[in-house]
Amino acid sequence: MASSKVFLPLSIALLALLGSAVGAQLQVGFYAKTCPNAETIIREEITRVMKVAPPLGGPLLRIFFHDCFIRGCDASLLLNSTSKSNPAEKDAPPNQFLRGFGVIDSIKAKLEKACPSTVSCADTIALIARDVVLLDKGPFFDVPTGRRDGRVSIGNEALQMLPAFSANISTLKSQFSSNGLSAKDLVVLSGGHTIGNAHCFTFLNRIYNFSGRGDSSDTDPSLDKNYVARLRSKCRPTAADANKLVEMDPGSFKTFDNSYFKLVAKRRGLFQSDAALLDDADTKAHVLRLANASPDEFFRDFAVSMVNMGNVGVLTGSQGEVRKHCAFVN
Ligand SMILES: *[C@@H]1O[C@H](CO)[C@@H](O)[C@H](O)[C@H]1NC(C)=O
Ligand SMILES: *[C@@H]1O[C@H](CO)[C@@H](O)[C@H](O)[C@H]1NC(C)=O
Ligand SMILES: *[C@@H]1O[C@H](CO)[C@@H](O)[C@H](O)[C@H]1NC(C)=O
Repeated sequence: MASSKVFLPLSIALLALLGSAVGAQLQVGFYAKTCPNAETIIREEITRVMKVAPPLGGPLLRIFFHDCFIRGCDASLLLNSTSKSNPAEKDAPPNQFLRGFGVIDSIKAKLEKACPSTVSCADTIALIARDVVLLDKGPFFDVPTGRRDGRVSIGNEALQMLPAFSANISTLKSQFSSNGLSAKDLVVLSGGHTIGNAHCFTFLNRIYNFSGRGDSSDTDPSLDKNYVARLRSKCRPTAADANKLVEMDPGSFKTFDNSYFKLVAKRRGLFQSDAALLDDADTKAHVLRLANASPDEFFRDFAVSMVNMGNVGVLTGSQGEVRKHCAFVN
């Protein structure tokens, strides 16, 4: 009977686990009854925005990533600081260059008008991210919804837990795995760098004075030398150039495709965190596979990893709240 003694507590523990997993489940079409036009309103608004301001695609996609990594996908990133001494995620250094908050606010205002206090900010940014990818010629995929909004946002958490552009592969893998995301998710989601721009300061150390020797050959050895020359022509080591924007996926920065992986495979990833994907057998294998993949193969992987990320730390049911304005708790 020793085995049943072991079995009983185990099965209770399993049931409890299952219970919480079911409770935390999102579902496709969560607003079908309560706000049937929610996804259409978002699609129409974001289509209009992307027509007049296509470069916002990258930042709007990034907002979803940056939110999910801190306290889960609960729109904590959108909350304004409540005082100078208590900065919110939005005002932490890794987030200071994000743009598109105004777009989110205006879409949320339209949602509030159609269905007051119904559609969460966390779901709004998840759906915006999906639509941006679609409008940049990427895949359409269903986004499970039902997230609720958090009430806490702490700048220091973003500083400590967001994957940095200078991160090495062990840090990247552990940051992803602490959010329940795999090495494959890490590689696939890095493919989001196929759209958008980066500021010169994020990779300047790779093209000038990498080790502190200061001579002109002192560049990051993991970066293709010919690419260094090209990047130097865009970014001089001056204060004036620090915030200049460079395309992360030159030539196709407005098209969602797998060219990012071709670049990384050729040692032309812009960030150290891109180059780092070649430093581990598992992540390297995914980079090489995706560099040679059909668009469909990358699109399928991306949809799966986006849904995986969208499940991170979500609040559901009666947890959190549905904010009326994304920058403020109710
Ligand atoms: C909230 O933050 C946004 C951007 O971070 C800013 O533009 C806006 O003025 C802030 N709103 C208030 C009322 O402080
Ligand atoms: C990766 O970066 C972390 C944090 O900067 C550091 O502690 C660690 O030693 C680095 N690992 C390797 C293998 O370089
Ligand atoms: C290169 O970096 C070193 C160490 O930070 C610094 O002392 C030196 O002045 C730099 N050289 C140039 C040319 O920027």
